Amino acid sequence: MKNRRTVLVTGGCGFIGTNFIHLLLDKYSDWRVINLDKLTYAGNLKNLQSLPDGDNYRFIKGDICDEATVQTIFSDEKIDTVVHFAAESHVDRSITGPAAFIQTNIVGTFTLLEAARKFWIGESSQVERPCFLHVSTDEVYGSLGKTGYFKETTPFDPSSPYSASKASSDHLANAYFHTYGLPVRITNCSNNYGPYQFPEKLIPLIFNNSMRGRKLPVYGDGKNVRDWLYVKDHCEAIVEVVKKGDNGHCYNIGGNNEKQNIDVVTLVCDILDKKIGLPKSGEPRRSLITFVEDRLGHDRRYAIDATKIKKYLGWEPRVNFEQGIEKTVDWYLANQEWVAGIVDGSYKEYYKQMYAE
Ligand code: NAD
Ligand code: TYD
Repeated sequence: MKNRRTVLVTGGCGFIGTNFIHLLLDKYSDWRVINLDKLTYAGNLKNLQSLPDGDNYRFIKGDICDEATVQTIFSDEKIDTVVHFAAESHVDRSITGPAAFIQTNIVGTFTLLEAARKFWIGESSQVERPCFLHVSTDEVYGSLGKTGYFKETTPFDPSSPYSASKASSDHLANAYFHTYGLPVRITNCSNNYGPYQFPEKLIPLIFNNSMRGRKLPVYGDGKNVRDWLYVKDHCEAIVEVVKKGDNGHCYNIGGNNEKQNIDVVTLVCDILDKKIGLPKSGEPRRSLITFVEDRLGHDRRYAIDATKIKKYLGWEPRVNFEQGIEKTVDWYLANQEWVAGIVDGSYKEYYKQMYAE
């Protein structure tokens, strides 16, 4: 097919990568997808079990830090587009064990940039319209006070090892544009929510704990604010940036849905009570809320100004929080086996069944 893209999606078995690959293969038949994922604890190959390897899709288990693996993929698959999701992504884990964040988020991004430089830059390159999209976070900007928004020009001021490692990778990606002319674009998005999110993150954790009658831990006073972005809106934004964005630019992507954590937690509880009735105890699920010790270095407020992507690429979020959280709770209710498979560890068996030698 003429003008077909071959896109290397890194971290395609994680939360956002899974949603992105499903979107591409459902809606964009001119994109061929190579999914490179190490299958860390956060990678779940079952998310993509409906997609056997074929003309449009191939899964490769591998590490983005492994130079030989990455370069072989660029060469064999004639990669012309990279959408780079693979990362260690959980702030709490970065506080207790930062080393993996430095390795994957910084060294891994460097390894991918180097491969792109080798195969895309220079006279021998035959790639027509290469694009390296580095997916990053609003957490690189640090914390806001009660007012104001993160713009693309806001200086970086990361607080956690996670956000510092992402900020480092953003700097590297920018440097490859300025120094080598690598066609890099960066997106910095706010907190995503929706199907397939690993139940260590706030919303699926609250779902899982409240379904099991467990306490619902809310850090500090519960008044930290996040700007919630429905994952499918985010994935559509990424497609727009690849198709229409400018090299050397970054684009902030936000949901325009600022909420305090306590309100999010209470809402999830109340939706569950309404949809499936009160638990056996007869107490509303919100009675399980327990305020616990605050996260170290906990950023107070994130909020995105997404004017640039709206103005230049015509993207804006379609799903507001009230709609998105209903859809999300419905998805988790319909996919309780998916959550249970993670909780009991059996989600890792699928890879062994499919790829055992
Ligand atoms: P996730 O933790 O759900 O998934 C990460 C995926 O990367 C997993 O499938 C994992 O197996 C894979 N991976 C990890 N290390 C790897 C390595 N060394 N080599 C190959 N694969 C590896 O993450 P997510 O929530 O889907 O986030 C995706 C990207 O979006 C990340 O870069 C993250 O920083 C960014 N981001 C996420 C959010 C959010 O709310 N989830 C918000 C802003 C930005
Ligand atoms: P999280 O989903 O970990 O995303 P991030 O740290 O990237 O924003 O957390 C979202 C917010 O919820 C954050 O302010 C921390 C808070 N939180 C809790 O209060 N309790 C929890 O158990 C978790 C996981 C998070």
